[in-house]
Amino acid sequence: MADPSHYEPLRRRFGEAARFNDPLARYTVARLGGPADAVIEASRPDVLADAVLVCWQNAWPVRIIGSGANVLFSDQGFRGVIVINRTKKLHIDDQRGIVNAESGVGLITLARDTMTHGLSGFEWAIGVPGTVGGAVVNNAGAHDGDMAGCLLSTDVLIEPDRREEWGLPELAYRYRESALKRGPLRAVVLSAELHFSPGHEPGKLRTHADEFAANRRRTQPTGASLGSMFKNPPNDFAGRLIEASGLKGTRSGGVVISTTHGNFFVNTGGGMAADYRVLIDRARETVQAKFGIELELEVELIGETPEM
Ligand code: EPU
Repeated sequence: MADPSHYEPLRRRFGEAARFNDPLARYTVARLGGPADAVIEASRPDVLADAVLVCWQNAWPVRIIGSGANVLFSDQGFRGVIVINRTKKLHIDDQRGIVNAESGVGLITLARDTMTHGLSGFEWAIGVPGTVGGAVVNNAGAHDGDMAGCLLSTDVLIEPDRREEWGLPELAYRYRESALKRGPLRAVVLSAELHFSPGHEPGKLRTHADEFAANRRRTQPTGASLGSMFKNPPNDFAGRLIEASGLKGTRSGGVVISTTHGNFFVNTGGGMAADYRVLIDRARETVQAKFGIELELEVELIGETPEM
């Protein structure tokens, strides 16, 4: 735990929006994680940018999270500042099919709203937890759709203090990856401009999205999980490999490898981040030993490395 006076500038600048020694479990879908030294909730892009700039200027470790869908915080928490992105503004031009979204907008909200406006091209996101910012960085996707297929540009703040508009050439998307994810630049997504096909019948779009939702309900577990734990390796599927390794149903404490889908690790109650770590290591080792394939995490581990 840090000396609270260390972060005094945050208290002065952000007032009530800054909290100290705040448990991270409440901000994550898996309901896990020890306390962060400081948490700032940013409900406007200027506050989001300001919070990150203060951290960069003071050389404080800082991470931004959206809905906390794809992150696993350690049980010891995070020695630094966590910025929660609560920016929510969304503008939809239904004639042109252009959408401007602040980076804290939820993907499910965006999927619903685009359908209501007769825009097609985001139905795949109907059951995907997460926010626009995380989706831009990770090239989120499902059902053969992904961010690379609908992004026009994104407004990014780059360390130390540069605002730039990036398009597909700068983002250099790959499967679940972008130049923003690969580094070494440190940057924050503030908003994104997306394009869709306009003029569709909302009812038909919803029927399409319902099929995706039904497919998810059939193939993925409900409950507190982190979504897909690992990326799919080339020409194979992490879930299939974990199943073929006989690991479905394997448990550590309160966390279990789902019997419905091998790439989902579910916190059944009382689970710890350390339990996730045990199961992550077990899955990696077993799949490596059996198939010679190295599973790469899709979920981001935060607060695990010594320098953090
Ligand atoms: N499979 C198994 N055993 C399992 C799970 C899956 O054999 O326990 C097999 C399935 O039978 C299928 C193949 O593996 O042949 C792929 O499974 P699935 O269709 O469930 O898709 P996935 O590749 O595991 C991806 C995304 C999901 C997205 C679904 C649906 C990744 C890592 N995951 O899963 O995205 O919802 O497709 O489009 O690309 C996420 O990224 O968090 C996420 C949930």
